[in-house]
Amino acid sequence: MSTKMAVTPDKIMQLGLGFWTAKTFLSAVELGLFTELANGPLTEDELRRRLQLHPRSARDFLDALVALGVLERENDLYRNTPDADLFLDRNKLSYLGGMLEMANERLYGFWGSLTEGLRTGLPQNEIKTGGGGLFESIYGDPDRLRLFLRGMTGLSMGASKAIAEKFPWADYKTVVDVGGAQGGLLVQVCLAHPHITGANFDLSVVGPIFEEYVAQNGLSDRLKFIEGNFFEQSIPGADVITMGHILHDWNLAEKQMLLAKAYDALPDGGALIVFEALIDDERRQNAFGLLMSLNMLIETPGGFDYTGKDCSQWMREAGFRETRVEHLIGPDSMVVGIK
Ligand SMILES: C[S@@+](CC[C@H](N)C(=O)[O-])C[C@H]1O[C@@H](n2cnc3c(N)ncnc32)[C@H](O)[C@@H]1O
Repeated sequence: MSTKMAVTPDKIMQLGLGFWTAKTFLSAVELGLFTELANGPLTEDELRRRLQLHPRSARDFLDALVALGVLERENDLYRNTPDADLFLDRNKLSYLGGMLEMANERLYGFWGSLTEGLRTGLPQNEIKTGGGGLFESIYGDPDRLRLFLRGMTGLSMGASKAIAEKFPWADYKTVVDVGGAQGGLLVQVCLAHPHITGANFDLSVVGPIFEEYVAQNGLSDRLKFIEGNFFEQSIPGADVITMGHILHDWNLAEKQMLLAKAYDALPDGGALIVFEALIDDERRQNAFGLLMSLNMLIETPGGFDYTGKDCSQWMREAGFRETRVEHLIGPDSMVVGIK
């Protein structure tokens, strides 16, 4: 009897038609389906009326979402699953859909030109048609900006909590988060370590949204905003510098420049924490990190994701005397460099 597993086309078809799943789900987010259901279960007729759906495919759409595990159906009533309810109801602070709304609006279409990007090495977003690209398109629109920053807090929440827990904060007093967005990481670190004070060094438009979030968490006396542009200014000094989802946006020379600025901003013994979906050193396991790097091709002129080993080497070249890589949660890891 053969011990070989049967070869089937299942994986091949799932990979090739994965966009069916993504688009069905993204349309549900776009339509506000999960927000409607957050107030209680509804029938197909009621959902059709509220979301203005044509009768032809409404039932298939809703039942596909049941089969995909984001809705439940009982006695013809549809309700959110617990994770959909927590993360996809626009009225909850935990809403992650801002990211997905933007993915639906922008990235879904841009990824259609991936092959062109692979052939030319050029971004496939607004830049291609003379627009400003990722940050300009988001930061020119106050609603998008708020959704993006809130979305970053949600996306980075697991990693932020893990950094608050795993890093030896007792040995340090101050922290500057470079490109700290709404303040997700700083808030988690300060809530867990009452002796820490810190600042977010970010573009000026981010300031009011950061300050509002910090105030909501009762931390305005310990966390401040330092407005600035890391291409034009030095990074403000602190015992610990953090950079989450920053380096992958930029090309190698820009990455090295940011690491050198972080090195200059630290005292001897100070620590730099770089975190994002670091690719595994063998470059064969962290599919999310590898696909994120392709997303950087779509979105930026020179950005790319990298392994913990790559980052450790750049840190050593910048002068850091010691580096270590630690897994945080899911696809996210951090590289810690000690000056
Ligand atoms: C992808 S977000 C990362 C947010 C957060 N660190 C996290 O991991 O969730 C990138 C951040 O970098 C900031 N940023 C982009 N260009 C910048 C610049 N030139 N100077 C300072 N901050 C910048 C953005 O405003 C944004 O907050």
